[in-house]
Parts: sequence; structure tokens; C-alpha cells
Amino acid sequence: MEIIKTLGEFIIDQQLEYPDATGELTSLFSSIRLAAKILHREVNKAGLADITGAAGADNVQGEQQQKLDVYANERFKNALAQRGVVCGIASEEEEQFVRFEETRNLDGKYVVLIDPLDGSSNIDVNVSVGTIFSVFRRVSPLGSHVTQEDFLQPGNRQVAAGYVIYGSSTMLVYSTGNGVNGFTYDPTIGVFCLSHPNMKTPAGGTIYSINEGNYVHFPDGVKKYIKYCQEEDKSTQRPYSSRYIGSLVSDFHRNLIKGGIYLYPSTSRHPDGKLRLLYECNPMAFLIEQAGGKALAGVGKRILDIQPTELHQRCPLFVGSPDMVDKLEEFIKQHG
Ligand code: AHG
Ligand code: MN
Ligand code: MN
Repeated sequence: MEIIKTLGEFIIDQQLEYPDATGELTSLFSSIRLAAKILHREVNKAGLADITGAAGADNVQGEQQQKLDVYANERFKNALAQRGVVCGIASEEEEQFVRFEETRNLDGKYVVLIDPLDGSSNIDVNVSVGTIFSVFRRVSPLGSHVTQEDFLQPGNRQVAAGYVIYGSSTMLVYSTGNGVNGFTYDPTIGVFCLSHPNMKTPAGGTIYSINEGNYVHFPDGVKKYIKYCQEEDKSTQRPYSSRYIGSLVSDFHRNLIKGGIYLYPSTSRHPDGKLRLLYECNPMAFLIEQAGGKALAGVGKRILDIQPTELHQRCPLFVGSPDMVDKLEEFIKQHG
């Protein structure tokens, strides 16, 4: 009989490898796992329940909040507050970071930054969406209230990062800095099972993913790179395929597995790009590096080395197979 390892078993195995581990990170992952299951349930009946459409408010970035954005935010926030290992969170859907005030939370070692529902414009049309999370050890003293500094740490200090993709199946993909592992949810038994152990992205790929409708607004280097992707050259398997879903999680997940590059450059509408450094770019950069890929914000600018200054700051993102990111970097170096 095939032996299935569940996410719970996998986490405990990992914990046993670190005799000093206190189980707090295990607890944190239990919270994420629980909220992911609840979101799976809601996303899967989105067309039936009164949960699609706009919530009637804008978030701090002036984007229309969808009902499921708000729901996902509440679910993850509540789950993370439950176990006393997290002292606060920052979320795309909250202007300020959220302090967890209960005494046990004040002793929590970790902060979590989260995009509760990524790709929310796709909910109403039955296209894959996701959740993205990033975990840091706090820098403020245990027992005190969480501070802004706890959240404004460079991505290279992440303790863990991951995403949940609610797609043709629901998957949780995460890393604690020791490789990337993917777990597929079996809704009939309510368990995530290890389906993608030690994920590595191919060194090269044949997919490029970008919102090409913004072409006129792209920097020259990016424009030239797109033309390069479209040129015929059999020796490098060009022209490449263009694939763009419009949910970062889904586009990233596909490229991670198949090999590819995802680009969200600066545009005139979004001079710093559209994606948010702390809960979109950083976790994806952590995962791709753990899978053998690269993530840059520009020439020589590793995403993980950026010192954040604001909770919701945006940043250009070029992420994917290492050879493809290198090639793009050459074009930007040459053409700006
Ligand atoms: P969110 O739904 O969390 O606001 O994120 C949307 C992001 C990202 O998921 C996606 O890749 C990107 O926005 C798409 O932007 P464009 O519509 O500008 O291509
Ligand atoms: Mn998002
Ligand atoms: Mn979102």
C-alpha cells in the first residue's frame, strides 16, 4: 500500500530534527492549515453562497475589497491569534499592523505578514486564487506589544514562507529555509498530504508571465526582453509561451513547477510595480530561492535584501527559473 505522509506528520518529523525546537512554529502552521481548510470550503462553494462580489469598501491601497478578501482576512487573523505563538500580524486588508493583546500572545515569538486572498478579481469567475504568508521572529522583547519594527525586516530574515493555492486542487506549499515542500489537500479526509517533496524549479523554462496589456508603460529593458521571448530560435526553444492568470500565486506555482519567469515591472500607473514587498514579493522570493530560482527587483537588486520602510510598500518583481532571470537582468542592464 502507498504510504501517505500528512502535513502534520511531516511537521513533527522536521521538528524532531531540531532538538531545540519548542513546537511553536508547529503550532503556527497548525493555525495556517486550519484557516486554509476553511478557505478551501468557502472558495469551493463561492458560486452558491452569498460570498462573491464586492464587500462595499476599499482597502488601504484604494482597491475594492471583495467579500472573500474580508472573510479570508478574518479567518486567518483569528486562527493565528488562537495559539499564543504569534504576537501580531500585518495584512493587505488592514491599514495598520494588528496587535494580539492577550497575555499569551504578548509572549508569542513570531509575526506573520499575509495576503489573505491573492487574485481576488478572479473569485467571481472561478479561476484559482491563493493565500500568501511570511513569518519572522519578532525583534521586540518577548512579553511586550508588537512594534512596527517587527514587521519591517528584510526578507532574508524570514523564518518561513508559503502559500495556499485554491485551484483544481487545494495545495499548501511552504519552506522553513530547508527546501520547499508541497501538500495537496484531500477534502474527503480533511488532510493535507505530501505530494510534492523537495520542489526544485527547472534552471531554464519556456514560459513568460506578464500583463502585456501594460506594454507601452514598461521600461525599455523589459520591452526588449519580451521581444526576445517572442523571437524564433529553435536552439533556445523560442518563441516561449505566454501564460498569465492574474493571480500571483497561480502564475508563480505553475512557473515553479514547469520553469518560467514572472514579471511585474514598474509601469507609469505603478512606478514601483503593483505587488507588495512584504506579503507578496518577499515570501515568493524566499520560496523560489529555496527551490533553486531567483527573485530580483531590478539589476543586482535581490528582493530578499531590500530593507522595507513601509508596511504596504510596493516593489517590482522578476521571479523564476535562474537562467531566465539572468537573461532578463542582462536586458535591463543593457537597455534600462
Ligand atoms: P490581490 O488580489 O491580493 O490584490 O493581488 C492581485 C495581484 C496579483 O495576484 C496579480 O498577479 C496581480 O495583482 C495582477 O495585476 P494586474 O491585473 O495588474 O495584471
Ligand atoms: Mn495579492
Ligand atoms: Mn489580496
